[in-house]
Amino acid sequence: MNSCKLVQLVATFTINNMNKIFDILGYLIPGIALFLALSGCEQQPYRMGERLYKTHCANCHMDGGEGLGELIPPLKGSDYLASHRDQLACMVRYGLKDTIVVNGKTYAEQMVANDKLNDIQIANVVNYVLQNWGNDVKPVTFEEVEAGLGKCGK
Ligand code: HEC
Repeated sequence: MNSCKLVQLVATFTINNMNKIFDILGYLIPGIALFLALSGCEQQPYRMGERLYKTHCANCHMDGGEGLGELIPPLKGSDYLASHRDQLACMVRYGLKDTIVVNGKTYAEQMVANDKLNDIQIANVVNYVLQNWGNDVKPVTFEEVEAGLGKCGK
């Protein structure tokens, strides 16, 4: 388990149990966890996401996220992202072969699976897409990614 995941687990645990914790620790621990999460773990995932994007996604979706003509849908300014936020982790892991509509245009080519990426890497690359090129879709949490992958897992 890496330190970011540990911080996230501690933060989730304490937030979930806040009402049961009456002493001062109940406020101290989330404070420290939040501080660590913001200082160390917020910057790093973006860079990891960027690296993963360049390796696993940019050859189709392009560095600028603009996609490729009729074949590859754009990620930059894609209206599909917000409406399918919960499914993106599954899409990255298992790929997609469907007919989808992105910004009013229909796409029907196949997106490859990424079965070598772990859950943290998937969360980071999805968040890179959600928050890059002027995109502003609420980032997914690690817990949301795990829950989403649990439902589509094969
Ligand atoms: C082999 C080329 C290819 C690669 C590599 C690829 N994609 Fe895709 N992607 C596609 C295609 C084609 C579609 C449309 C699939 C369909 O119509 O079923 C798509 C659809 C999508 C969509 C939903 C539509 C949209 O534009 O918002 C997202 C999000 C997405 N890809 C993200 C990624 C991410 C993140 C990666 C890297 C982990 C990646 N893709 C790697 C080809 C690719």
